[in-house]
Amino acid sequence: MKICVIGTGYVGLVGAAVFADMGNTVVGVDKDKAKIAKVTSGVMPIYELGLDEIVLRNVKNGNLRFTTSTPEGVSQSDVIFICVGTPQDDTGAADLTAVMAVAKEVGQNLNGYKIVVTKSTVPVGTNERVEQVIKENAQAGMDFDVVSNPEFLREGAAIEDMRNTNRTVVGTKSARALNMMRELYKGFNAPFVECDLRSAEMIKYASNALLATKISFINEIGQLCERAGANVQVVAEGVGLDKRIGRAFLNATGVGYGGSCFPKDVAALYKTSTDQAYDFKLLRSVMEVNELQKFNFMKKITKAMGENLSGCTIGVLGLAFKNDTDDIRESGAIKMIRMIRGYGAELRVYDPAAMENTKKVFGHDQIYYANDMYDAIKDVDALCIFTEWGNFKLLDLTKTKQLMKGNLIFDARNLLDQKAVESSGFVYIAVGKRTNGYTEDGDIVSTAILKNGR
Ligand code: UGA
Repeated sequence: MKICVIGTGYVGLVGAAVFADMGNTVVGVDKDKAKIAKVTSGVMPIYELGLDEIVLRNVKNGNLRFTTSTPEGVSQSDVIFICVGTPQDDTGAADLTAVMAVAKEVGQNLNGYKIVVTKSTVPVGTNERVEQVIKENAQAGMDFDVVSNPEFLREGAAIEDMRNTNRTVVGTKSARALNMMRELYKGFNAPFVECDLRSAEMIKYASNALLATKISFINEIGQLCERAGANVQVVAEGVGLDKRIGRAFLNATGVGYGGSCFPKDVAALYKTSTDQAYDFKLLRSVMEVNELQKFNFMKKITKAMGENLSGCTIGVLGLAFKNDTDDIRESGAIKMIRMIRGYGAELRVYDPAAMENTKKVFGHDQIYYANDMYDAIKDVDALCIFTEWGNFKLLDLTKTKQLMKGNLIFDARNLLDQKAVESSGFVYIAVGKRTNGYTEDGDIVSTAILKNGR
């Protein structure tokens, strides 16, 4: 099939690469000239393992090319994917400016029957607006159909997720468009959900919101576990074995969920509900719990180390919003660093991929950017783990003990082995479980470190 993908962010670039790799002829469109030049030469604008290889291979074999010209991409294709960003606006709603601008250009350049497929995450009713905008801008009598085909890939596992998606959702009112989508996705071994436009749009938001709800739920169970003397990791295992619930997305975290999707999509769905004069109380709590998690974790740090952290140095492992990405958008780690800095501490930070992005946010004020994870913990009073990178699990505790000045470890991802950490002489404070960092009454010990003049 001849496909045009407009927008070469996560969804667009990965989509273009995977569709090309399946033998389709794909043209990727982006207004950003520098980005297009880079991508064509194999330099990816996003951190996604394996993507450069697929892109280069398909550029070489002629299945994939890139252009900055929407008219060119649209006129040469049968299927047009809209994959541009829908950031959060000041009201919490999804900003549809880019989507509507693309719809207008697509309309202006229609030169025969095409299907226009929205992959961007867009609120209920958007595809009807897209259809209207295309109609208003197309020549009279030009035939087209719109399709909603949300994407469910995760950053860091994007190629794998797209190839092995667990469902393909296609919303459209056109039988002709539906057949074309069936043909396009026939190589994917996944259930094909065909529905109306509005339901397809809602499936995407409901999915992300439910996953975010699972996280906020387990985070609150974690709060309760700490107080009641239970262990949230054991609880998650036990609960997750129920197939109706599942173990995924039940990892409690002290920094909450982050990224470019969950925070924005939960807020947008909440905005949709208020627009419909419905108060979605559960979603409001999901967001509130997510913010509170960070303040609660900060409280653990100040309870242990005191309210005035000036004169203290804290090592931080993990800056990205999750592992296997360089993305720091809405990263809990970044928010924690902002708070810790506010309490006056110096920081030594390390992340395998997100260092450059973090430098752009904080500069060098109170922050040293370490060369590796051991460099980040040299002479620090305390260590915080904020992102679930696999490598951090391999931290050599004997070496860590020698390198650190203090003996406090705050593990916001429950990454380390509690017994090993405690028996190596650390005071360990994690999430949703009692450790040697707690008194018998369930309070955080406050004598673990003496700040200023220790
Ligand atoms: C999420 C969804 O998982 C994808 O299905 C969806 O396509 C994507 O949003 C999107 O809408 O584009 P992503 O944001 O890449 O994907 O990351 P996730 O792996 O879902 O993680 C989101 C956040 O939740 C991270 O901060 C992660 O650390 C956190 N998380 C995840 C937890 O705190 N606990 C868990 O058990 C799982």
